[in-house]
Amino acid sequence: MPLSIISLLSFFLAAQPVFAQDASSSEDLASPTPISRSRVTSSSISTASVSVATPSGPQTVVLDYGSVLVTSIVGGSVVGGPRNDSTAAPSSASASPSSQSTSSGSLVAITGTNGNSNATATAGSRPRPSNTRPCNGHAELCNRKLSNVTMVVAHNSPFVVPHNAASNQVYPVLNQLEDGIRGLQFETHYPNATAGLSLCHTSCDLLDAGTLESYLTTVRGWLDTHPYEVIAIIMGNDNRVPPATYIEPFQNAGMLQYLYTPPKPNATLEDWPTLAQMILLNKRVVVMLDYLANQTEVPWLLDEFSYQWETPFSPTDPAFPCTAQRPSNQDDEVSRNKMYMANHNLNIDVELLGQSILIPAYTLLDEINAVSGNGSLGRNVDNCTAMWGRPPNWLLVDYYNFGNFNGSVFQAAADANGVSYNRNDCCGSAVASAAADTDIHKLAVSVFAAILSGCLLMF
Ligand SMILES: *[C@@H]1O[C@H](CO)[C@@H](O)[C@H](O)[C@H]1NC(C)=O
Ligand SMILES: *[C@@H]1O[C@H](CO)[C@@H](O)[C@H](O)[C@H]1NC(C)=O
Ligand SMILES: *[C@@H]1O[C@H](CO)[C@@H](O)[C@H](O)[C@H]1NC(C)=O
Ligand SMILES: *[C@@H]1O[C@H](CO)[C@@H](O)[C@H](O)[C@H]1NC(C)=O
Ligand SMILES: *[C@@H]1O[C@H](CO)[C@@H](O)[C@H](O)[C@H]1NC(C)=O
Ligand SMILES: *[C@@H]1O[C@H](CO)[C@@H](O)[C@H](O)[C@H]1NC(C)=O
Ligand SMILES: *[C@@H]1O[C@H](CO)[C@@H](O)[C@H](O)[C@H]1NC(C)=O
Ligand SMILES: *[C@@H]1O[C@H](CO)[C@@H](O)[C@H](O)[C@H]1NC(C)=O
Ligand SMILES: *[C@@H]1O[C@H](CO)[C@@H](O)[C@H](O)[C@H]1NC(C)=O
Repeated sequence: MPLSIISLLSFFLAAQPVFAQDASSSEDLASPTPISRSRVTSSSISTASVSVATPSGPQTVVLDYGSVLVTSIVGGSVVGGPRNDSTAAPSSASASPSSQSTSSGSLVAITGTNGNSNATATAGSRPRPSNTRPCNGHAELCNRKLSNVTMVVAHNSPFVVPHNAASNQVYPVLNQLEDGIRGLQFETHYPNATAGLSLCHTSCDLLDAGTLESYLTTVRGWLDTHPYEVIAIIMGNDNRVPPATYIEPFQNAGMLQYLYTPPKPNATLEDWPTLAQMILLNKRVVVMLDYLANQTEVPWLLDEFSYQWETPFSPTDPAFPCTAQRPSNQDDEVSRNKMYMANHNLNIDVELLGQSILIPAYTLLDEINAVSGNGSLGRNVDNCTAMWGRPPNWLLVDYYNFGNFNGSVFQAAADANGVSYNRNDCCGSAVASAAADTDIHKLAVSVFAAILSGCLLMF
């Protein structure tokens, strides 16, 4: 390995963040007022009124909650009844091992897990080197700061229980990641000490998707075999537990090694590293918590609203205004200089088992998740760009596989990034087996470092 590569690597590796922050979590805890609410209980389901504004008039939505089938919103009414069918579960993805061959004939040519890299970094002939190794799917993104990339976020990523109205996605997290989801958002609950941090929607009685640790273990396995991918995990601390509660599940899942801590608190757009830097450091996961983070105690558990803001949460308004809702009352000038997330999931608010819950407006997904048109994700990105001078970093969606075509949410992100999207890639693609590829990361990263340092030396 040439000296330049070693020094480049050690430069990145030495850049370990050191800081302390007195995170004050005096956040606005209020969630937006739902526009309306219907009452639907498991024992007495008849008709309840709900009004939901939709971009194209009254809609019929079939909602599925366990033994309860709710056929809802016909001209402003929710109609429901006991379940009477046995609709097939969404077909689960077939798992097949991916081909992961590694040929390292020369230092600068490699066929790795996610694509091809070719570059010429030999001094002498001095050809202009270029990196063709994709970072998060596109070589163009490697030298962009994390704060300068638009990625799709799976809203409530773990909530994939078939026939449960409290679900938000069809495909489980491995499919999500394979298909291009790079933000994983979800609620965490702490029902009791035995269960520990759990993935529940509104309440563990409504939907319990297991432990945080088990979910993170799955994600960590994917990161092991996908060394060029950078993701964010954005969590809700629904029971407002102390931040140290999060250490154990991340540790037991083997995730700590991958966690990135920004070099200073309240990082602005300028302060974030490029995807390539995060990949070289192998610190490829940013973890944020909405409430009660304290980076003095747990440095990698970022206080979300010190680093990014969000448009209205759990929106029930299909106009999707791109206003900053959380943190509340933040100066626009501060907001302009921070990452932000567009919440682009349209909800209707119902009451199930005595719990008020927002559930996705299923039948509108083809419009909501579309590239263009009223209420679409693409339009929301355009509106946000017009308002804030740059597209959102995170596009949060329900049921990402639906849209005006399968994968249209990724097209919207690709458009925002100015890169191309292969429409045949989505969705529910075969999940790579967690094959033993222990050295892939080392090899891949050293080659990648060679390419980048070659670039640095040449320019
Ligand atoms: C099942 O319920 C739906 C709507 O609730 C109804 O239209 C349909 O006729 C029912 N089917 C049977 C077999 O009862
Ligand atoms: C890399 O170079 C090899 C040999 O020149 C060539 O066969 C291959 O197609 C190139 N791959 C890419 C992605 O450019
Ligand atoms: C990233 O920077 C490019 C070039 O300035 C810009 O066109 C794009 O909108 C930016 N994207 C984000 C998410 O900031
Ligand atoms: C703890 O919570 C879990 C999830 O709600 C539940 O299944 C379990 O029965 C609870 N255990 C105790 C001891 O309360
Ligand atoms: C954060 O943690 C530090 C160290 O435990 C503590 O001194 C400080 O009071 C905490 N801050 C808040 C806001 O809880
Ligand atoms: C970070 O931002 C939060 C508000 O988002 C503020 O309360 C806090 O003082 C800031 N911390 C530093 C160190 O600037
Ligand atoms: C975007 O802006 C237009 C024009 O102001 C508005 O009609 C629309 O509702 C906004 N949002 C979306 C998602 O289309
Ligand atoms: C979008 O909404 C506006 C106002 O609500 C309407 O005039 C227009 O026809 C709609 N466009 C489409 C394509 O539905
Ligand atoms: C997308 O994929 C799902 C299955 O995952 C399918 O039911 C749906 O009809 C597809 N098409 C669109 C336009 O979303």
